[in-house]
This record gives sequence, C-alpha cells and structure tokens, in this order.
Amino acid sequence: MKFYRTLHPRPVVVIGSGDTEKGIINFMACAWITPLSDEPPLLGFACSKENYTHGLIKEFSQFSVNIIEDCELIFKLGSTSGSEIDKVRAFALKVKGGNILRVPLLEEALATLECKVIKEVEVGDHTFFIGEVKNWEATNFDEYGYKEFWRIPLHKGGRAFCYPSKKLFFIKK
Ligand SMILES: Cc1cc2nc3c(=O)[nH]c(=O)nc-3n(C[C@H](O)[C@H](O)[C@H](O)COP(=O)(O)O)c2cc1C
Repeated sequence: MKFYRTLHPRPVVVIGSGDTEKGIINFMACAWITPLSDEPPLLGFACSKENYTHGLIKEFSQFSVNIIEDCELIFKLGSTSGSEIDKVRAFALKVKGGNILRVPLLEEALATLECKVIKEVEVGDHTFFIGEVKNWEATNFDEYGYKEFWRIPLHKGGRAFCYPSKKLFFIKK
C-alpha cells in the first residue's frame, strides 16, 4: 500500500508543456499539484523525472495547468507518453496557445493557467516545479470558484476517479 493514497482523492489536472511556436506540444495528467502563494501567485506540482513532460519543462521553463471534466481523457493523457506518441493527434485534442506564454492550452478546459517556472526542487524521484501564474482564465466562475464545482474531477487512485458531491454546506458563524 502506498502512503500517498491517504492524501487522495484530490483534484486532478492536465499539465501542458512545450513551446507552441516551435510546434512542440504535450499533455500529462497530474494530481500532485497545489497552490503555494497568493502574492506573487505561485503554484507547484510534482513531476516524475521519467516523464517526457519533465524534459520539456526543463527545456522551456514553462507549463500550463488545464482543468477538464473528462476523466477518460485525463486517464489517457496519464497512461501514455509523449516520448512514444503525439497525444494531440492520438486523442484529437483541440489546442490553443497561451495569451502570455507560448504554452499549449486545452480549448475544452474549464480553467487554464499559464505558468513560468521560477524554481525547481529535487524531491526524490520527482522534481517539484514551482510556477508563477502569468495568466489564468476560468469559465462559469465567480469569487467562490466554480459555479458547477461538481464537474471538477478527483483522482482516487489508479483507474479510480470521482466527482465532488453537489451538496454544498457552510460552516456557521
Ligand atoms: C490520474 C493521474 C494522475 C497523475 N498524477 C501525476 C503527478 O502528479 N505527477 C506525475 O509526475 N505523474 C502523474 N501521473 C502520471 C503521468 O501522467 C504519466 O506518467 C504520463 O504518462 C506522463 O506523460 P508524459 O511522458 O507524456 O509526460 C498521473 C497519472 C494519472 C492517470
């Protein structure tokens, strides 16, 4: 049994990497991601050193975070490698370039964040990439976040996913 299963379910995203102007584009699934600072806006995620994504982020010092609803697609992106297949073609992904950075974004995303790498931390078999959020966009969103929060996928482990309950409750004052 793996210790990190105790920290799941957790939101799962798609990391975009490469350089859109050079036509180098890849996407992978990622559940080990977290916000780190509000000002400056920073987030970080752990990337296995074996992933093709790892080399692309080292090379171009940028990545995108894409929040999509489709767990089937997330699993496909998380169980194949850009070192072996062109995922954009294989999964007929609709891709656009970032507004500020030359990072690939998924058109169907509920939210996208464009990040510039400001720090890399060696953490065992992963590298923790810390990115400054240079631009972000989200649809159907307000100051409390996603209006349809039950569409945000969570990764339980392996091939198991779930979505948040629609039931919302507030802590009384
Ligand atoms: C749901 C899910 C979550 C994942 N989370 C991470 C993660 O947080 N960090 C990581 O390095 N790999 C994670 N992976 C594995 C990568 O997505 C997987 O190794 C992928 O094939 C890497 O693609 P690439 O070689 O094209 O970069 C996850 C896979 C799945 C299915």
